[in-house]
Amino acid sequence: MKKLGILTSGGDAPGMNPVIRAVVRTASKEGIAVVGIRRGFDGLLSGDTIELDGRSVSNITNQGGTILFSARSEEMKTDEGSKRAYEMAKILGFDALVVIGGDGSLTGAKVLSEHGLTVMGIPGTIDLDLDCSEYTIGFDTAVNTGMDAINRIRDTTASHERVSVVEVMGRDCGYLAIWCALAAGADDVMVPEVTEIDVDAVIRQILTNRSRGKKHNLVVVAEGVGRTQELADRIATITGISSRATILGHLQRGGSPTAIDRVHGSEMGMLAVDLLLRGEKNRVMIRRDGRYIHIDIAEALNHKREFDRSLYDSVRQLSF
Ligand code: F6P
Repeated sequence: MKKLGILTSGGDAPGMNPVIRAVVRTASKEGIAVVGIRRGFDGLLSGDTIELDGRSVSNITNQGGTILFSARSEEMKTDEGSKRAYEMAKILGFDALVVIGGDGSLTGAKVLSEHGLTVMGIPGTIDLDLDCSEYTIGFDTAVNTGMDAINRIRDTTASHERVSVVEVMGRDCGYLAIWCALAAGADDVMVPEVTEIDVDAVIRQILTNRSRGKKHNLVVVAEGVGRTQELADRIATITGISSRATILGHLQRGGSPTAIDRVHGSEMGMLAVDLLLRGEKNRVMIRRDGRYIHIDIAEALNHKREFDRSLYDSVRQLSF
């Protein structure tokens, strides 16, 4: 292997930069040239590249986002687009391509592998929605950012004895919301995976806790449930308690990666290059049972994880 391409795709995630650093430095030490592709698969399609060496990835491990920029490529979703991306990879001389991103990005990588390109996938998304892995890079930073934001919201909510409804990111997946709710000690959480908990159930939970002497309440809503302002308004109308809605939005995706995201990112980046050196093809680095392992990319995308209902239930169980 002489030349490796690397790209970040989909929503950026804190910890992508430590992956880039690890891949570049591990490969460079083995005499492999590394080419950064800017703006995800769109950059591959347009040949937008930058040469990377050990020095060019200095001082990035502490930076959120991705130095390679990111994008969601519509063209890559078409047959013609993916064929063209494969041809561009060959023209650019890549012996393999490392793709860092979530399920959409790894699906793009899988399609390239079907065309004949060797790929390595590294799960990078704040959503933790890649079912094959217990961990995706960026999740820990996003949980800590969400928790910190909710801590601040709690101060003002408590001062005014209000209800605050806080929406966190996560697309169709509720794990980010559950972790934020549990870590911040929220009264309740609404996630897309649990459909039987409705607005009335949340209001009952608030009223029960008020009857126990609680003076303010926090409810976390996953982005996949949405209607956050509507929920705050309904709580205010029904209970007469002043209620506010806050949508954290992209604030939650930024920030310097936590140590966990840096360490997992570094280890997965190194492992990806080691595998390529051993002649492995089309694998995805994952965490399972607390260990780093790698599985076939097609298998990785087929895997369905059972929703952790007990973690979700913990939020209500500890709410009083
Ligand atoms: O997948 C990461 C994520 O931040 C989701 O939580 C969110 O739904 C989405 O990306 C937002 O995407 P965009 O930045 O394109 O608005």
